[in-house]
Amino acid sequence: MAARAIRGTVARFQSDPFGAAGREALVFEEDRLVVIEDGLIVSVGPAEAVLASLPPGTPVDHYPGAILSPGFIDAHVHYPQMEMIGAAGEELLAWLNAFTFPAEARFSDPAHADEVAGRFLRELLRAGTTTAAVYCTVHPHSVDAFFAESERFGTRMIAGKVLMDRNAPLDLTDTAASGTEESAALIARWHGKGRQLYAITPRFAPSCSEEQLEAAGRLWKAHPGTYVQTHLCENKAEIAWVAELFPERTSYLDVYDHAGLTGPRAIFGHAVHMSEADFACCHRTGSVLAHCPTSNLFLGSGLFRLFEAKRADRPVQVALGTDLGAGTSFSQLQTMNEAYKVAKLGGTTLSTAEALWLATTGAAEALHLSDRIGAIEPGREADIIVLDPAATPLLQFRTAYCRDLTEALSVLMTLGDDRAVRATYVAGTPVYDRDRAGDPFAYPA
Ligand code: GUN
Ligand code: ZN
Repeated sequence: MAARAIRGTVARFQSDPFGAAGREALVFEEDRLVVIEDGLIVSVGPAEAVLASLPPGTPVDHYPGAILSPGFIDAHVHYPQMEMIGAAGEELLAWLNAFTFPAEARFSDPAHADEVAGRFLRELLRAGTTTAAVYCTVHPHSVDAFFAESERFGTRMIAGKVLMDRNAPLDLTDTAASGTEESAALIARWHGKGRQLYAITPRFAPSCSEEQLEAAGRLWKAHPGTYVQTHLCENKAEIAWVAELFPERTSYLDVYDHAGLTGPRAIFGHAVHMSEADFACCHRTGSVLAHCPTSNLFLGSGLFRLFEAKRADRPVQVALGTDLGAGTSFSQLQTMNEAYKVAKLGGTTLSTAEALWLATTGAAEALHLSDRIGAIEPGREADIIVLDPAATPLLQFRTAYCRDLTEALSVLMTLGDDRAVRATYVAGTPVYDRDRAGDPFAYPA
């Protein structure tokens, strides 16, 4: 494929902003040219100099005044719950029964799964999210619908069929044997096909028998490179229920650890009510926590202790998740906004660089994908978003008073949402263009 280029100011991490040199971690390199070939970034350099070396006629998309960022990564989201966002009034367990399970039951119809998958992918791209760890439903065809649409856009996605063999409506349960068999078939069909990656997805300990969790652990071991995703320590009533269901285990996390479900590429959603032993286990095993602030606030689950998780003597990998449909926005900018407030309520301050890290470069590192995505650097897949600091009249007015680009980004994280995403490039193709007349979405040719 012929080369193309994107011109603008590039946001780049020189180091982990949670580390010692936090203040210098995020840099803005002005007027760069990002050259892309065959979906990969081949060079990034000062625009004038690089332009002179490009073959004549190379298409260049120029975004003066915009910030080019790696596409956002959402570490925890449920696509079947798109139709029940904002279902209000309950805490986790009642919310699951009243709203979530009925919505997921509608996915017994493959046509419904196809329709929602199409809408969901478009909303992700509109929000600037190019990679997500996605829960499907118990139905294998819900995974096929999702990955098929992801393939059409060329996005790198992580997804899996929910496993649940108890404490759920009968039409939403599998068995330890059928869940394993169906998951294995989905791994064979999708894992490593193009950019698609599979996540073995036991919903959470209360909906899985010990037999099912152990089978999931064995399946994970048999398929290196696949992910595990589940929920952990989200809500106090849920945690008490896990203690009742698994009296031999020392903690909620111990249920997963005992079943062989902790380790690199294991993603635990929420982790709001964690003990020191739990954090230490995540550090020791290389497990990842998905911080889902809009969801934890919406369901009243509690306040995630980010800086305790990241404690320097035993840092735990953390990435940001929307957790729709308990979460309230597709936008990682809005999720950063709420993460900032949750940190403040815990007596800490989340810097702009730290917030961006959790949804881009740091998330890629946590998910063992940093050789492929998460940075605008040569060799990475060209998943790039164009952030518009003047996207709305209010943003335009406010941004004019910013002293530097870090402040402009901080304002974007406060006032911005999908309107601030001018364009989304997936593997070098602009699959979403906010200002394109007609359909703003286009599959790659
Ligand atoms: N715990 C088990 N299932 C779910 C779910 O769908 N959403 C949330 N937020 N927590 C869960
Ligand atoms: Zn969830």
